[in-house]
Amino acid sequence: MIARLKGSRHNRYVSRIVFCVLVVAGALLATRHGQAHKAVTSKYTYNDDVFPILRDRCSRCHVQGGVAPMSLMTYDEAFPWGESIRAELIAAHMPPWNADGGFGELKHAHALSPNELDVILTWVTGGNPRGSLDQKLPAVTLVNDWTMGKPDLALPLPSEYAMPADSMEETKEFTIATGTTEARWVRAVDLLPGTPAIVRSAVIFVKTAGASTAGGPAPEQVLARWVPGLDAEPLEGGAAYRLPAGAELGVRIHYRKTWSYESKPMADRSTVGVYFAQASAAQEVYALPLTSPALPAADATNKSITFTQAIDSDLQAIALSPEQVPANITLQVQAVLPNGTRAPMIRLNTRADWARRYWFEHPMALPRGSKIEVTANLVDPDLMSAAFGSPAAPKATGPSTLRLALDVLPAGAKPVAP
Ligand code: HEC
Repeated sequence: MIARLKGSRHNRYVSRIVFCVLVVAGALLATRHGQAHKAVTSKYTYNDDVFPILRDRCSRCHVQGGVAPMSLMTYDEAFPWGESIRAELIAAHMPPWNADGGFGELKHAHALSPNELDVILTWVTGGNPRGSLDQKLPAVTLVNDWTMGKPDLALPLPSEYAMPADSMEETKEFTIATGTTEARWVRAVDLLPGTPAIVRSAVIFVKTAGASTAGGPAPEQVLARWVPGLDAEPLEGGAAYRLPAGAELGVRIHYRKTWSYESKPMADRSTVGVYFAQASAAQEVYALPLTSPALPAADATNKSITFTQAIDSDLQAIALSPEQVPANITLQVQAVLPNGTRAPMIRLNTRADWARRYWFEHPMALPRGSKIEVTANLVDPDLMSAAFGSPAAPKATGPSTLRLALDVLPAGAKPVAP
């Protein structure tokens, strides 16, 4: 094309443009490739190999408007994060999941496969090649919708919550009236964040008005533990949560801004979705608390604790949630059956913010006389003194006991009306 242009003025003009374009392109390449001298050794490119993995595994959060601090959905957005991605993947921090794949069987494990891990690590350490420049990748946008379809009851928070510009994180509790006139069985409860960028986690529970039970106030019955990127999990096999007539729901939301929203005022009005069970008779799912004795002091030499909880009727366990646990410890839970067999349930490396309800792949039978055995390793002494409070930092007090909740239902009993 250049060759076809006639006249020397034209040619000089064109070659100057070509020169400028080359200089700009060169400068762009040099800044793009921060380590311009790093040789490209990766056989994997962003376009062909890395993008599909990031889209499948990271895009529910790392997308414009998502809860993560940055999008990874274009080459330009992902490129600067290479080293950070490497560090997060090697520490098994991303995608957030925290359960050990080699212990117990859990539904929807979020860990990357060895092959996915290999592709991304090879790419970030091998010069981050882009692939063909004229290859167009599909645009990835934030999806913020009910994962189980429209709920039977959509209950918005009573009012909008305004998060001040100078605040980075807050936990707020809201009360929502369900307006139901009879007791109902519920198969799932979900949350649709109003502003996905700041809603970090939510616990939705049935509020028990003190006078309702004879034997003192019942513990909160948790209906859902929501974290970003998690599909709602409908109960199966005739199990359901009980929602008393006219119940009120408590919604405890942890709001947190990432650095990209620092010092900006934000607002949220999330909506709770309730899905009723079809059948009129079901078995009630309830939480069995697993509570430790007092944790060892920060300066104790033995930093591990084991405690057990006896099971005194035939049960099935379907899920387990860390309720009150310090961050950065290791927890292992297993069932010891009456015949002495040990059945692994879960091993967790706890992290702040990412506590969820972990569902067992199959309901676990816990015959009467079984025991649940929990071992906690309060590994890092520095983290431990920060988490539990020490003379040097009297304000940073953490929990003095551990509490987990095991979701169970009676085994072999007949379904009943709510
Ligand atoms: C469920 C939501 C979610 C998913 C899925 C997720 N992330 Fe994240 N990511 C976050 C959030 C939120 C943060 C901010 C730090 C925090 O709070 O843990 C973060 C932080 C990071 C950081 C560190 C950013 C910084 O500021 O230093 C990297 C790197 C990262 N994620 C990479 C990934 C990759 C790669 C994937 C997919 C393989 C992924 N993440 C999947 C939510 C997610």
